[in-house]
Amino acid sequence: MSTQPPQAGTGPEISIRGLHKSFGDNEVLRGIDLDVAHGEVVCVIGPSGSGKSTLLRCVNLLEEPTKGQVYVGGTEVTDPDVDIDAVRRRIGMVFQQFNLFPHLTVTENLTLPQRRVLRRDRATAARIAAQNLKRVGLAEKADAYPSSLSGGQQQRVAIARALAMGPEVMLFDEPTSALDPELVGDVLAVMRSLADEGMTMMVVTHEMSFAREVADRVVFMDGGVVVEDGEPAQVIGAPRHERTRHFLSRLLDPAMAEVEEETSDQVGGKTP
Ligand SMILES: Nc1ncnc2c1ncn2[C@@H]1O[C@H](COP(=O)(O)OP(=O)(O)OP(=O)(O)O)[C@@H](O)[C@H]1O
Ligand SMILES: [Mg+2]
Repeated sequence: MSTQPPQAGTGPEISIRGLHKSFGDNEVLRGIDLDVAHGEVVCVIGPSGSGKSTLLRCVNLLEEPTKGQVYVGGTEVTDPDVDIDAVRRRIGMVFQQFNLFPHLTVTENLTLPQRRVLRRDRATAARIAAQNLKRVGLAEKADAYPSSLSGGQQQRVAIARALAMGPEVMLFDEPTSALDPELVGDVLAVMRSLADEGMTMMVVTHEMSFAREVADRVVFMDGGVVVEDGEPAQVIGAPRHERTRHFLSRLLDPAMAEVEEETSDQVGGKTP
């Protein structure tokens, strides 16, 4: 049995054990077991409603699990006595929507949480903001307002804001799905460089080329369970489960999926 809690410094960076989450009588996560090693990049894929966002949100306690444990760096974050704020400081999260403050400059967006949450002084926060803007290739936008930036640039600012807090782990929930196609590449390039630096990352994404090239593992979820978990080449290239194959075929060829659906409707005897 792998139910032993990991020990600080020796076990996986993220460890999820028997995780369940229900909203009312809707059981969204039905027993997830997943480990992410230090420095590992795990991409989570799966159909809409399969529980991907809920899984990430349970890792940093934006949602409280109904049952099960989550450990980050050996600390049980689901322990009722845990200091939630201390836990969240160790985990950076990037969402589909960037949620930057429109009335603050890029630098101010990065310094505000450092000063409020980490109590850094103004000069230190500004120095760390500058370092992280450089890291995402936006040093020259330090004094700009978010509205003057492209969606891709705003998302890179949101990544820099998370990095400025010095997280041990980064969670990304479809960070490029709100972007115009031509802006996706720059955001993925920043994420790839973070992966190369050894950041531990869980990434919900439908960018299969990113998953193939950058992820150490790909996890396919459906109906609140992990259906398949393995190397990208295997899960994407040679899925073992029919549900994974079906999902990937729809993702890679939506036109084909439509034909398939029409055909199965006809087989099911439904007439328009
Ligand atoms: N706060 C909430 N209250 C009630 N139900 C919720 C809440 N958050 C999520 N759900 C439900 O949980 C299920 C899983 O949602 P979740 O957002 O985790 O799926 P997802 O895999 O991220 O989907 P998508 O690909 O569309 O983002 C859905 O049925 C959703 O309606
Ligand atoms: Mg989601």
